[in-house]
Amino acid sequence: MQINKLVRAATTLIILGLIAFWVLTIPGKHDPTELQGLVGSADRGALVYAASGCSSCHSAKGAEGEAMLILSGGRAFPSDFGTFFAPNISQSVEHGIGGWSFGDVANAVSFGTSPDGQHYYPAFPYTSYQNMDLADVADLYAYLKTLPASEVAGKPHDVGLPFSFRRGLGLWKLVFLPSGYHLPATGLNEEELRGRYLVEAMGHCTECHTSRNFLGGLRQNRWLAGGPNPDGKGKIPNITPHADGIGGWADIDVVTYLNSGFTPEFDVAGGQMAEVVENMKQLPAEDHRAITAYLRRIVAMPDKK
Ligand code: HEC
Ligand code: HEC
Repeated sequence: MQINKLVRAATTLIILGLIAFWVLTIPGKHDPTELQGLVGSADRGALVYAASGCSSCHSAKGAEGEAMLILSGGRAFPSDFGTFFAPNISQSVEHGIGGWSFGDVANAVSFGTSPDGQHYYPAFPYTSYQNMDLADVADLYAYLKTLPASEVAGKPHDVGLPFSFRRGLGLWKLVFLPSGYHLPATGLNEEELRGRYLVEAMGHCTECHTSRNFLGGLRQNRWLAGGPNPDGKGKIPNITPHADGIGGWADIDVVTYLNSGFTPEFDVAGGQMAEVVENMKQLPAEDHRAITAYLRRIVAMPDKK
């Protein structure tokens, strides 16, 4: 009798737990009314594409120039949880996203949710892109439509349990998918707000320049203060206004770096930053100034000793 009661109580708890898990991990989606009437422009989308750096991850490894427009995927992203491979997001209907609606792309970019309602891994930086304006996503969608199809099949990720269980990512999102920006808008002028949008939403600078905790979440208290490079090679620099960061750079040095890759020491941007600079070069000068203005507003942080 006693045992029966216990079993019943335990079963009830497990069922309630599963229901709670299920409800808490439902993948997010846009309300279709939000998307209605949004028609993007491919011309404007070219700049959104450059600012948000989709090609740095989704073009084939080693691609340069025009080849950066072939989004056949395949690049590897090692992490503490396994290796992720960028999928083909070209206009191939079979292997890419040629058959996707605007809503499908918007749900992927803003919520990290696939058309069949699965969670994406945050190796895809929707954690930043979720702050993109839907009008910009519509322009991006229109631009992606003008890019070529590539019939290269995607590679499955090399990730073991429990991380291969995508539903569990819903819990990760509950904790680490920020619902806004790091710095609140109050006290920021228009230029700094534009900079915040470019740095934190489109440019996803924080995804590389902020170190992560053991669960892969960005350390909010080390914002843009750099850290070890997840691909195991060297370090990602601190870009806060501290002397360990870019505190010693004049504003014009930061602007020059973003539009040419040259540092004040006449070094040139290397590693993953080389591709970021190739994209940044395409943006107007006022965007480089806006990024610089915003970086100046970040709390100055020394390197971790
Ligand atoms: C830092 C690398 C990185 C960047 C930058 C990036 N992606 Fe991705 N993307 C990924 C990875 C890795 C995945 C696979 C995620 C998964 O399977 O859970 C992905 C998945 C996707 C998917 C889902 C594809 C599918 O077949 O389900 C779409 C769509 C997508 N990305 C679009 C974009 C767009 C648009 C941009 C630019 C705004 C972009 N990505 C920028 C790494 C990146
Ligand atoms: C994919 C990862 C990645 C992203 C995204 C990224 N960076 Fe970087 N960044 C790096 C790496 C790696 C370096 C070091 C480059 C080198 O060694 O030459 C760097 C260097 C820099 C530097 C020079 C710092 C120094 O002390 O030399 C600045 C400034 C900078 N990044 C700003 C930005 C801004 C602004 C963005 C967003 C628009 C951004 N980065 C996005 C990886 C990244």
